[in-house]
Amino acid sequence: MCGIVGYIGTNDSKEILLKGLEKLEYRGYDSAGIAVVNENGVHVFKEKGRIADLRESVVAGVNANAGIGHTRWATHGPPSKRNAHPHQSASTRYTIVHNGVIENFDSLKREFMGNVDLQSDTDTEVIVQMINLFANEGLSTLEAFRKTLGLLKGSYALALLDNEDNETIYVAKNKSPLLVGLGDTFNVVASDAMAMLQVTDQFVELMDKEIVLVKKDEVTIQNLKGEIISRAPFKAELDASDIEKGTYPHYMLKEIDEQPLVIRKIVQKYQDETGKLTIDGDIVNAINQAGRIYIIAAGTSYHAGLVGKQLIEKVAKVPVEVHISSEFGYNMPLLSEKPLFIFISQSGETADSRAVLVEIKEMGYQALTITNVQGSTLSREADYTLLLHAGPEIAVASTKAYTAQIAVLAILAEVTAKSRGINLDFDLVKELGLVATAIETLCDSKEIIEQISREFLSVTRNCFFIGRAVDYYVGLEGALKLKEISYIQAEGFAGGELKHGTIALIEEGTPVIALATQESVNLSIRGNVKEVVARGANPCIISMKGLESDEDSFVIPEVHGLLTPLISVIPLQLLAYYAALHRDCDVDKPRNLAKSVTVE
Ligand code: F6R
Repeated sequence: MCGIVGYIGTNDSKEILLKGLEKLEYRGYDSAGIAVVNENGVHVFKEKGRIADLRESVVAGVNANAGIGHTRWATHGPPSKRNAHPHQSASTRYTIVHNGVIENFDSLKREFMGNVDLQSDTDTEVIVQMINLFANEGLSTLEAFRKTLGLLKGSYALALLDNEDNETIYVAKNKSPLLVGLGDTFNVVASDAMAMLQVTDQFVELMDKEIVLVKKDEVTIQNLKGEIISRAPFKAELDASDIEKGTYPHYMLKEIDEQPLVIRKIVQKYQDETGKLTIDGDIVNAINQAGRIYIIAAGTSYHAGLVGKQLIEKVAKVPVEVHISSEFGYNMPLLSEKPLFIFISQSGETADSRAVLVEIKEMGYQALTITNVQGSTLSREADYTLLLHAGPEIAVASTKAYTAQIAVLAILAEVTAKSRGINLDFDLVKELGLVATAIETLCDSKEIIEQISREFLSVTRNCFFIGRAVDYYVGLEGALKLKEISYIQAEGFAGGELKHGTIALIEEGTPVIALATQESVNLSIRGNVKEVVARGANPCIISMKGLESDEDSFVIPEVHGLLTPLISVIPLQLLAYYAALHRDCDVDKPRNLAKSVTVE
C-alpha cells in the first residue's frame, strides 16, 4: 500500500521516477507526486488521481539529478492533492514520502506540532515537520532524521530530501517494504524491485530500523545507533516481460491465462531429478511433529487456505484450522500442544498476517510462509518458505496466486502424506498436468463465459454464490472476485445455509451461481438451487463433467475431486472480469483497493 521510489545519479530523475511510479501503481492509486532537487532547491509536483494525471502536471523544464516519488492509498485524510505526497516541512527545507501508518501520530502532533500550521491531514507531514524542528534546534539532517525515527511508532518506509544537500536521499524503514537498487553512476530506492527494473536488477534488502544514506556513487546502511552495516546485493529474478501487459487489455486477463503455465512451473520446481515431488525435509518434519496446523491468511489467500485445509487433512491426515489474520491476534483460539503456523500470502507483506507472525514467534512457535515474493517480510521472518513461482501478480484482484497457493498446498499435502507412509491412489504430478490442460480449455472458452456474464450479471445489483463442501470455499472466492472488481454486491454461501435467513433476499431474477463439482453433494446442491428458483432466482449452475445435467449453464472438464477448486475458480474469475468490463469498471485498479495491504 502506497509505493515509493527515489533516484540519485547523473540523469534527469523525473522520467525515471514517473516510470517507477507507474510500475508501483498497483500499490495505491488515489493520488501521486514527485519531488526533485537541484541547485535551485526542491520542486514538488503532485496530483489527485493516477500517475497519468501527475505526468501532465510535471514541468518539463525542471531538470534535477535526484528525486523521490510516491503513489498513495489513503489512510490519514481523503484522497486529494493536499494529502498527496511528497509532504514538506514549513520551511520547505525537507521533503518526504512515506508508506505505512504512524500509530502515535496524534500524540506526536500534540507534543511537537503546537506551533506548526499543518498543510495536510496526513501522519506523514508530522514526520517531516519533526525533522525540521530538530534540525532548527541545531541537529544535522541525519541526526534529526534519526531522532525522529526513534519517536515513531508504527510502520514506515521513508525517503527524505534536504534542499540544502542535493547529493543525498535519506531512507529508512520499519515494517513497510523498501529496497535500495544499485547502478554504476546512480542509485535508486523502491518499494518493490519491479519499479526500478528499468535501470537495475541489483538490489539491497533493508531491515527494520535501518537508515540508509543514498548518494549517486555510494550507499551507506546504518542502524539507529549509527553503526555501519554491510550487506551484499541480490539480483532480482524478474524478467521485464513478466511485468508488462503485452497484447492483453488488462493484467487480470493475462494473469488468468498464465495459470496453466504457473501450475506446470510449480510442478517442475517441486520435482527432484527423478520426477518425484519433494519439499525441504525440515518443513515436512515440522508438519509431522505438529499437533495441529494453523493457516493464517487474508482475502483470497484465506480462501486458498480453506481449500488447503481440505487437502492437508484428507491427504496427509494432519488436523488444520484456518484463520483470518486480522482476527487471529485479537481472538486467538486455544492452541494445540505443538502448533505449526502456515502463513499464506501472495505479497508476503500483508500487515495483518505479519502481526500474527510476530506474535507467534514471540510465543516460540514455528512458522512456514507460502508466498510469491522471495525475500518478502513474511518469508524472511518465518522459519521456512515455500515459493509460489507464479511470477509477479500485478492486477489487484488475485487470480494466479490463488491457484498457485492451492497447487503448492496440494504438493505439501502429498509429500507429507508419503513421509507418513500413507498410500495415495493418485499421482499428483499427473493430476496437476491434467489440471493445467483443463485450465487451458477453460481459458479458450472466454466467449461463452462472457456471454454468461452478460446474461446473469450485466444489470443485477447483487448475486449469490452457493456450493457445498469445497465448492462453498470456491464460491467465497468467486464472490470476492466479483464484488471487488465489478462492485456487484456478491456473497458466497454454503448451499444449505441460505434457507436459514439469507434466502429472504432472493427476488425475481436474483442471480445465484451454484457450483456442482463434488459427487457427494451434487444432488443436495441441486436441491438448494430448486429452493432459490422457487423464489424467483435466476440460477447459473457450473458443474463438472460427469455430474452435469441439462439445466447447467457451464460444464468444466473433469479433474481429480480434490483438485476441482483449481479449475472451478477459472470461470468465476472470468465471470468477474467480464462483469467489470461490461460495467466500465477499472478492472486492474478497482476503487478503494490496493495490492499488498501493508497497513493493519
Ligand atoms: C483479492 C486480493 C486480496 C488479497 C489479500 C491478501 O483479490 O487480492 O484479498 O488476497 O489482501 O494479500 P496477500 O495474499 O498478499 O497476503
